[in-house]
Amino acid sequence: MRLRAGRDDDLTALLALWVASWREVFPEIDFAARRSWFARHLAELEDAGADVTVACADDGRALGFVVFDPATGVMDQLCVGVDSKGAGVARALLEAVKRRAPGGVHLTVNKANARAVRFYQREAFEIVGEAVNPNSGLAIWKMVWRLGGAVTRNREPLH
Ligand SMILES: CC(C)(COP(=O)(O)OP(=O)(O)OC[C@H]1O[C@@H](n2cnc3c(N)ncnc32)[C@H](O)[C@@H]1OP(=O)(O)O)[C@@H](O)C(=O)NCCC(=O)NCCS
Repeated sequence: MRLRAGRDDDLTALLALWVASWREVFPEIDFAARRSWFARHLAELEDAGADVTVACADDGRALGFVVFDPATGVMDQLCVGVDSKGAGVARALLEAVKRRAPGGVHLTVNKANARAVRFYQREAFEIVGEAVNPNSGLAIWKMVWRLGGAVTRNREPLH
């Protein structure tokens, strides 16, 4: 497996991967119907300064991707294909993001997405708040990873 910057010609493969991966998380939601929304969302994120990193198999097939804005530290989307779950691909993508995030990595995750919440906690993210997603109405956790987390927390206590 190797990581590389996303390219325009990745879009079709990444959308297919995204639909299949999310369908497994929330089978009751029609993610295929949201494909064009996600394509627009991705373009808007890139216009705003985020970039895409793709994990590829040796034959070039996309295994997963992450969307990260180094200016804000916001990781909007981490997604690996159905066959790549549990294989270390998500961790490799996240490690690459962490290396570019001196100010920490910030994300939100649906509370009902137990696998993702467990994954982020295992990868040293902490829950720092909660909210409701204004689009879906679903409850979300706000999570943060910080370099040398405990030290930073002691300097910046939550009020
Ligand atoms: C979230 C995601 C990136 C994590 O990558 P992954 O390769 O599946 O993660 P891992 O298998 O390494 O870790 C998942 C952890 O959750 C656990 N887990 C699996 N299914 C679970 C479930 N239903 N409930 C709770 N925990 C679960 C695993 O055992 C593992 O924990 P462990 O290492 O302590 O045993 C991947 O599942 C994915 O792409 N999901 C769809 C998109 C998504 O949800 N993205 C994140 C949105 S913010």
